[in-house]
Amino acid sequence: MIVVTGATGKLGSLVVDRLLERVPAETVGVSVRDPAKAASLAARGVRVRAGDFTDPASLKEAFEGADRVLVISAAIRGAGAAAANIAAIDAARGAGAGRIVYTSHQAASRDSLFLPMHTHAATEAHLLAQDTPFTSLRNGFYASTVDQHLGSVLPEDGPVSWTAHADLADAAVAALTEDVLDGITPPLTAPVTRTFAELAAEQGIEHVTLPDDEWLAAAVERGTPAPLAEFTLGMFRAARRGEFAVTDPTLEKVIGRTPQVR
Ligand SMILES: NC(=O)c1ccc[n+]([C@@H]2O[C@H](COP(=O)([O-])OP(=O)(O)OC[C@H]3O[C@@H](n4cnc5c(N)ncnc54)[C@H](OP(=O)(O)O)[C@@H]3O)[C@@H](O)[C@H]2O)c1
Repeated sequence: MIVVTGATGKLGSLVVDRLLERVPAETVGVSVRDPAKAASLAARGVRVRAGDFTDPASLKEAFEGADRVLVISAAIRGAGAAAANIAAIDAARGAGAGRIVYTSHQAASRDSLFLPMHTHAATEAHLLAQDTPFTSLRNGFYASTVDQHLGSVLPEDGPVSWTAHADLADAAVAALTEDVLDGITPPLTAPVTRTFAELAAEQGIEHVTLPDDEWLAAAVERGTPAPLAEFTLGMFRAARRGEFAVTDPTLEKVIGRTPQVR
């Protein structure tokens, strides 16, 4: 059985949809925090079990009988994030999975200016220290992030290879059903990079930036909690340093088509 976590999320739901085009529903299980949200998958014959990365005991049942587990990094900010992902990896090992597939990030690094990259680096270090075969998908930066920011006053940024969820979902399915990707993958990215200035110009939107300290103060003034504003600023500072400026042909090779360009 292939077990997919985060199946009620944006990436996980696309993965399950595409997986069901390739393998019978009775060979697919999902581990979700709220099984009621996955009722439509249960109706399609998928095994739905409750699993929360912060409650490792729940994962024992959720991952039961798994040959392969897709651990979708949980949407958790801060110190608990790596521990949660690591708990899911250990639960997959405990269930006897022969391969763990993890959704990392193209810029995973302990030195990154963007905090989630530290979480991915710590999770990858844990995967490397185990003897279970794994695939750490170094996913490109989600293109959906652009829509959250385009048109707002922003900090200075840098080029990013914005990558579509749909393309990354197909790569995850390939990693789960074929022997195409092993270990830490190359960056799985769209073939071009774009700055917010370029994206705004393409769409005829005015692009306005502020120095970091002024942008932070304005965000807090608007009601954004300071830690969240600092978190977001980290993304722009990392982009400025070129952390997301990489493109790589691996995603195109794995999915057999040119990845979407944002
Ligand atoms: N590559 C990138 O640029 C990028 C950008 C942002 C985030 N990410 C990472 O990619 C992941 C998937 O992206 P997405 O777009 O699918 O995000 P999403 O739609 O927000 O989904 C996040 C998933 O994380 C699950 N989750 C949260 N806390 C959990 C916990 N304690 N235990 C188990 N699952 C938990 C959520 O479950 P519920 O449905 O129960 O809430 C949800 O399924 C994110 O969680 C994040 O780690 C990557």
